[in-house]
Amino acid sequence: MASSSATLSPSIPLQLCSWKSEKALVMKPRLAGNGKRKGKGMRISCQATTAPADDRVPDMGKRQLLNLILLGTLSLPTAGMVVPYASFFVPPGSGGAGGGTIAKDAFGNDVIADEWLKTHGPGDRTLTQGLKGDPTYLVVEKDKTLATYGINAVCTHLGCVVPWNAAENKFICPCHGSQYNEQGRVVRGPAPLSLALAHADVDIDTGKVVFVPWVETDFRTGDAPWWA
Ligand code: FES
Repeated sequence: MASSSATLSPSIPLQLCSWKSEKALVMKPRLAGNGKRKGKGMRISCQATTAPADDRVPDMGKRQLLNLILLGTLSLPTAGMVVPYASFFVPPGSGGAGGGTIAKDAFGNDVIADEWLKTHGPGDRTLTQGLKGDPTYLVVEKDKTLATYGINAVCTHLGCVVPWNAAENKFICPCHGSQYNEQGRVVRGPAPLSLALAHADVDIDTGKVVFVPWVETDFRTGDAPWWA
């Protein structure tokens, strides 16, 4: 550290200057002993720093590197917040054909049509997990094929799950006694509406059963689907 003195204009209270040897100097005003300025100028002292003036400003390469580090630091947390937020607005997909939902069996496994038909005979109605997680019956037709529709098991009265009664060939609600025929059409109240339908398609590539929303006319009643 070296010090020196110089005479500068009084209007400059603090100043950074360079010396011949390109040392950066910090100049502080210092008054004379009696507290008064002498002459037109004033005496100030300069303290030379050991760092060259050029080192105080990062060169372009360092700036770009710092910018990249800053950008990366901000981007990762931002992406971490934005991606989950955006995915909240995307309807839950299933990976099934046409954006449907792959049917799941009681163990949570994907239902494969051929395998299912090996263990479920004609007239069978067994619950699977369907659209939005609703319990949905897969129907095996009399010719040992899967019906092209699934029957939502949620009672249209107050929402109990309606079991299949093979002996009666009906769905009979245990809560208040509503009854539905083998296709889920209401035949006895207090339920006001038939059970909802969903398409039960088979993915030609994987053989898995895929439920797709039913938005067409209810083939059992000829009415528009109340659930769509
Ligand atoms: S909830 Fe099914 S009849 Fe009431």
